[in-house]
Amino acid sequence: MLIKVIYCVFCLRLSASIELSNYSFPKDFVFGVASSSYQIEGATYEDGKGENIWDYNLHRKPEIVFDGTNGDVACDSYHKWEEDISLIKNLGANFYRFSIAWPRILPSCNVGAKINKKGIEHYDKFINGLLSKGITPMVTMYHWDLPQCLEEMGGWMNASIVDDFLIYANILFEAYGDRVKHWITFNEPFQVCEYGYSGTEMAPFRNLTGVGGYNCSHHLLLAHGRTYRHYEKKFKPIQKGKVGFAVNSGWFEPKEDTEEDRRSSERVMQFSYGWYMHPVVLGNYPSVMIDRVDAISAEENYPVSRLPKFTKEEIDMLRGSFDFLGVNHYSTAQTKFSDNFHRPSFGYDCGVAPYTNPDWATSTTLPGLQMVPWGFRRLMKWIKDQYNNPPMYVTENGWATGAGLEDNERVRYITQYLSELLKAIHEDGCNVIGYAYWTILDNFEWLSGFSTKFGLVQVDFQASNRTRTPRKSYEVYKKIISSRKVIV
Ligand SMILES: *[C@@H]1O[C@H](CO)[C@@H](O)[C@H](O)[C@H]1NC(C)=O
Ligand SMILES: *[C@@H]1O[C@H](CO)[C@@H](O)[C@H](O)[C@H]1NC(C)=O
Ligand SMILES: *[C@@H]1O[C@H](CO)[C@@H](O)[C@H](O)[C@H]1NC(C)=O
Ligand SMILES: *[C@@H]1O[C@H](CO)[C@@H](O)[C@H](O)[C@H]1NC(C)=O
Ligand SMILES: *[C@@H]1O[C@H](CO)[C@@H](O)[C@H](O)[C@H]1NC(C)=O
Repeated sequence: MLIKVIYCVFCLRLSASIELSNYSFPKDFVFGVASSSYQIEGATYEDGKGENIWDYNLHRKPEIVFDGTNGDVACDSYHKWEEDISLIKNLGANFYRFSIAWPRILPSCNVGAKINKKGIEHYDKFINGLLSKGITPMVTMYHWDLPQCLEEMGGWMNASIVDDFLIYANILFEAYGDRVKHWITFNEPFQVCEYGYSGTEMAPFRNLTGVGGYNCSHHLLLAHGRTYRHYEKKFKPIQKGKVGFAVNSGWFEPKEDTEEDRRSSERVMQFSYGWYMHPVVLGNYPSVMIDRVDAISAEENYPVSRLPKFTKEEIDMLRGSFDFLGVNHYSTAQTKFSDNFHRPSFGYDCGVAPYTNPDWATSTTLPGLQMVPWGFRRLMKWIKDQYNNPPMYVTENGWATGAGLEDNERVRYITQYLSELLKAIHEDGCNVIGYAYWTILDNFEWLSGFSTKFGLVQVDFQASNRTRTPRKSYEVYKKIISSRKVIV
């Protein structure tokens, strides 16, 4: 039985993956760390910054967050940016992926609103600070901190936000494009839209089940495509930078070795990474998504599908709107078909339930996060096969722990995941050109507050100066970067 034989080979690989790879990272491969504005900056109302959707919601309903905290001060990186740069420099990182806070640049959303000069200046000195230390800036334009004034006009549900985003993006290209050559339009659109507009796991907590995620994503994809084309036409010939898109994806492994479970695994990949990357690489949503949401919407008596349609022009505009793909990857789940969801919902449309596996190591502070290094390699291979081996950056990958400097679990996670990445590059031929660990500092981890920690560097949130102390994993990652090997 062919299936059984393949299954067995696969079992061997599972146990073998504990051994670390002795390959070296390719000569041009770059290492970095990633962060986002709201999670680290603080200085919420300083220097003319406008309110964002997180400020607005968490000030009104602090109980939404596990420990009742918010990002008002966070790591105070708005003031302590020089110390952050020293930590990144000392790590030996080649690049720093950080985000710009939209409401620092355009605090009020009225037509003709003025650019906030202090906001522009802040990132100016920050970018110059990185470059003076030989660290390449990689800028995320949108990492979830939407100006509240835009949300009051419908936020990502309102098609006119595409123009608002384009105005903002143009300001960034003009202000920083002479020095910034790596741009990411959006971070994790699934989380923005499905969690923020369909559900209530993320600001703005809209709870528009079965509709919010699709409309939001449609506008966000159009904003990405138009920004890419705008840069291509107006800035790229002179600035010669690259524009990408960072999408989160777990790896989804069939729970059992059955045809149905294998189909469910493929389907959830198309409904997660494919939802965004299929349009950006190939022009439209994955056909399995179009077919299912159209059919289920009709069954539910919607006059038109809940999944919006791109026009022919939009498809042409979107197709190939990337210079690199960004992959945020943390964990693997097992999948099985399920129709046990309320309707309408993304869950029912996709028709897959994810399972955690009790045999896999689980984060003590984030129960959905499991350590499954081989899942990372399979995800990379899947993307390579789906999209004709595009250039890829791992734009986030990391492990959550509690407090403490002896973070052996994180060390295990980093060495094993990077080891699988080496195999993806050397044995599977994946075109991965860089990797950013999430994240340099413990930070405000959204609804988990400060209770879960992803940092290579511990931050004392009780101390008014937010004291930073490198962990063991910082030293290990530093050695990996300098030796360009996982076994050191
Ligand atoms: C790893 O490869 C190097 C040569 O590149 C070799 O010297 C070393 O012994 C190998 N280490 C292990 C643990 O296999
Ligand atoms: C959508 O945004 C535009 C301006 O950006 C505004 O005029 C319009 O009222 C908004 N629509 C809704 C439904 O809020
Ligand atoms: C979300 O909406 C549903 C009805 O569709 C409601 O039952 C539920 O309580 C709402 N959740 C929140 C957190 O508002
Ligand atoms: C979602 O978009 C469709 C158009 O594709 C529109 O008809 C519908 O009203 C929108 N829903 C919401 C809740 O904005
Ligand atoms: C921060 O404050 C603590 C005491 O609260 C002190 O031990 C530490 O040296 C300070 N760190 C910096 C960088 O000033």
